[in-house]
Amino acid sequence: MTTLVREPAEFRRACDDARADSSRVGLVPTMGALHEGHFSLIDEAKNRADFVAVTIFVNPLQFGPSEDLDRYPRTLESDLAGCRERGVDLVFVPARESMYSAQFQTHVSIEELSKPLEGECRPEHFDGVTTVVAKLFNLAGPCAAMFGRKDYQQWKILSRMARDLDMPIEVVGCPIVREPDGLALSSRNRYLSATERKRALGIASGLRRAHDAWHEGERNPATLRSFAQEPVQSEFDGVDYVAAVDPDTLMAAAPSPSRLLIAVAAHLGTTRLIDNVVLGEDPRP
Ligand code: PAJ
Repeated sequence: MTTLVREPAEFRRACDDARADSSRVGLVPTMGALHEGHFSLIDEAKNRADFVAVTIFVNPLQFGPSEDLDRYPRTLESDLAGCRERGVDLVFVPARESMYSAQFQTHVSIEELSKPLEGECRPEHFDGVTTVVAKLFNLAGPCAAMFGRKDYQQWKILSRMARDLDMPIEVVGCPIVREPDGLALSSRNRYLSATERKRALGIASGLRRAHDAWHEGERNPATLRSFAQEPVQSEFDGVDYVAAVDPDTLMAAAPSPSRLLIAVAAHLGTTRLIDNVVLGEDPRP
């Protein structure tokens, strides 16, 4: 049975009860508009825990003033149906006011890892993410929390947060789920027109080119980056970044690295897409 709760205190109590019953709590934080990417995290949580809690909260703290907070898709009924189908135990859907009171003034900030890539384009974004996820961790007290590597930097930052703040939580990074043609699943894909949907493949095709070159022995980060960049540059309306960096520090990679993160953020019309691959680690996108 899937229980829906809306108040933080109820959410805490339900997770406390599960733990008192000797269940391991697995947490899957989301902003809703659930798709197979989210469901893969739920499946992984079910493998690792006895009691699975999903949170659905479009967190205003992580959206910049010119970003898509107001038009972010909200599909609660079908999200709940999906959670029921996948055997989720508890769904937490808080109101904004119950997460952030008028007196709210505390933020969690991860210094270095929040600076590059998404941090440069979306200055307040990660402080919003770490703050809300710290709250969710404190409410749920999970053994493990699932995040997608689609948001690679977010996963790295949240792992760092748990380690630095001694949160006894395994922060699990799950593989990117893609459409058969390679497009990474995203709640924002629904904004794409039919022609934009085709052009969106520029990212996956750039990541594949870099992946192929890596397999043929290319190790120069700048060269690999340029392979990824070319189709993104030609298909997209604007490119925020195509980066080739160290997958752990997110800073400049070694001249001939054993692993390399290629991360992309680009715009089609008013829709912003991100994607990545870790060369030397991930399968071909
Ligand atoms: P949201 O964008 O809803 O994503 C929730 C989780 O689903 C994230 O961990 C994200 O990386 C993962 N995810 C999204 N698309 C995926 C895909 N194609 N394959 C695998 N995993 C995928 O990320 C957030 O929400 C928020 O920032 C949140 C962590 C909930 C904090 O508000």
